[in-house]
Amino acid sequence: METNLLFPALKAIAAFFDGCKVGYQGTKGYRKSTDLFKFIHCIRELRTLGFLDKDSTVFTDLGCADGRVNIFMSYFVRQSIGIEIDSEILNEYTLRRKGLDGLLRQAGLPLPPGNIFLFNGNSIDPETYKRMGEETGVGFADVDIFYTYITLHDVFGEKIAAEARPGALYLVYGFNRILPRYGEKMEIVLPDVGSQGIAALYRKKE
Ligand SMILES: C[S@@+](CC[C@H](N)C(=O)[O-])C[C@H]1O[C@@H](n2cnc3c(N)ncnc32)[C@H](O)[C@@H]1O
Repeated sequence: METNLLFPALKAIAAFFDGCKVGYQGTKGYRKSTDLFKFIHCIRELRTLGFLDKDSTVFTDLGCADGRVNIFMSYFVRQSIGIEIDSEILNEYTLRRKGLDGLLRQAGLPLPPGNIFLFNGNSIDPETYKRMGEETGVGFADVDIFYTYITLHDVFGEKIAAEARPGALYLVYGFNRILPRYGEKMEIVLPDVGSQGIAALYRKKE
């Protein structure tokens, strides 16, 4: 893939998803969409620091909604996995992908690679990771970067501290300056990823 087209592709994807940004409180919890334009800066910094490797990194969004962050990350990782508890929300992915792919083709920009795996499931249920292992070949302990947009960030933080591999990263979107802590085993690596005031990066200690 042409590297010089990667960031133009991200900008086109961000503009596309900006047209369908979501923010509401539903029966199954809180839904809000990552600001993809700001997230481009986060990706740049993660990449510069060597945290994203196309040949090895496994990324997982623990509440992926329509998979927009998965689409973004797919260009920079080996596997881009998303888990979403609400099947209706997850179903939005198919139609959006159709629209997005048409737009990227028209603009001569690279389409997301075929490494996106999205599941309907509960991210705190071990059964979900059993299914994930069966379908993708990777389990919870193989994930290199976990992601959440506020949702259950404290519960996920505990789970990552207890069950992720040492060195696994946890990118938490939605906090600025006053950052949550997830216990002794989790350290803050970057308090303000990409200098956008939107996300902090944690790591499970070795
Ligand atoms: C704040 S939205 C973030 C969506 C997307 N990650 C983004 O940044 O644009 C959180 C999503 O997590 C989902 N969710 C809530 N609890 C969940 C759980 N236990 N397992 C999986 N998904 C969950 C919600 O339905 C919602 O779509």
